[in-house]
Amino acid sequence: MVAVIRDNEETPAPALDPDRIPRHVAIIMDGNGRWAKQRGLPRTEGHRQGKENLRRIVEACVEFGVEILTIYAFSTENWERPPSEVNALMSILELVLNQEVKRLHKNGVRVCHIGKMDGVAPHLQEKIRKAVELTRNNDRLILNVAFNYGGRDEIVHAVQEIVRSGMPAEEITDEVISQHLYTRGIPDPDLIIRTSGELRVSNFLIWQGAYSEYYVTPVYWPDFDKEELRKALIEYGRRRRRFGKIDEQVEQES
Ligand code: FPP
Repeated sequence: MVAVIRDNEETPAPALDPDRIPRHVAIIMDGNGRWAKQRGLPRTEGHRQGKENLRRIVEACVEFGVEILTIYAFSTENWERPPSEVNALMSILELVLNQEVKRLHKNGVRVCHIGKMDGVAPHLQEKIRKAVELTRNNDRLILNVAFNYGGRDEIVHAVQEIVRSGMPAEEITDEVISQHLYTRGIPDPDLIIRTSGELRVSNFLIWQGAYSEYYVTPVYWPDFDKEELRKALIEYGRRRRRFGKIDEQVEQES
């Protein structure tokens, strides 16, 4: 039998298996600059479109049943970018805090911040704290914003806290370190997505991502829409997570 495929026939999006939705998705939102360059626009326009896309992806995560979304918004290394771009990114954060937080709150999203406050302008620090406080009892989705965040900085900070507490060396375990990270209390990411095709971790969740599944797509962040997210979640659903063990052991445990 010959299958006839009509040009104008829309292929329905494959269904997501509700039992294989990652609980925690983390995203390296890369490619804003290249998205803008392709269109002859300033890089900051790419970041502005990136902010718009973030709203769409937050909504899609709620719809798909993701519980925690962590986004890499500004790294400890991003301060090295030209001052005009750093200022633009700070203004975008301020816009998000001024305009989006109310909507997020209305939609039951809890906003958390991971990263350090040192170096962030005091008025932004205040707005971040207020957003976290306002939304603290929401439970539809945790939106973890990695801002002024670096994985190495986070580990250094954790080690400093542990040493200051006077804990004996033999009592320091994986669990103790996890409890001193900015992400304490939040489960490790199941899926880490990187847009724009770069095959790098870029200092993002380097401790927490030890057993995360990675998904890299060439799509630039402003174009990474709900259907692209669906593709990533479907791909995640096909992966077999073994956490260093063998298939038979994983099967016995499940
Ligand atoms: C990486 O793309 C993206 C960033 C450094 C910033 C991400 C920010 C947003 C998506 C806007 C939302 C922001 C906040 C603060 C909530 P790139 O500039 O490195 O792109 P390129 O690799 O193509 O140059």
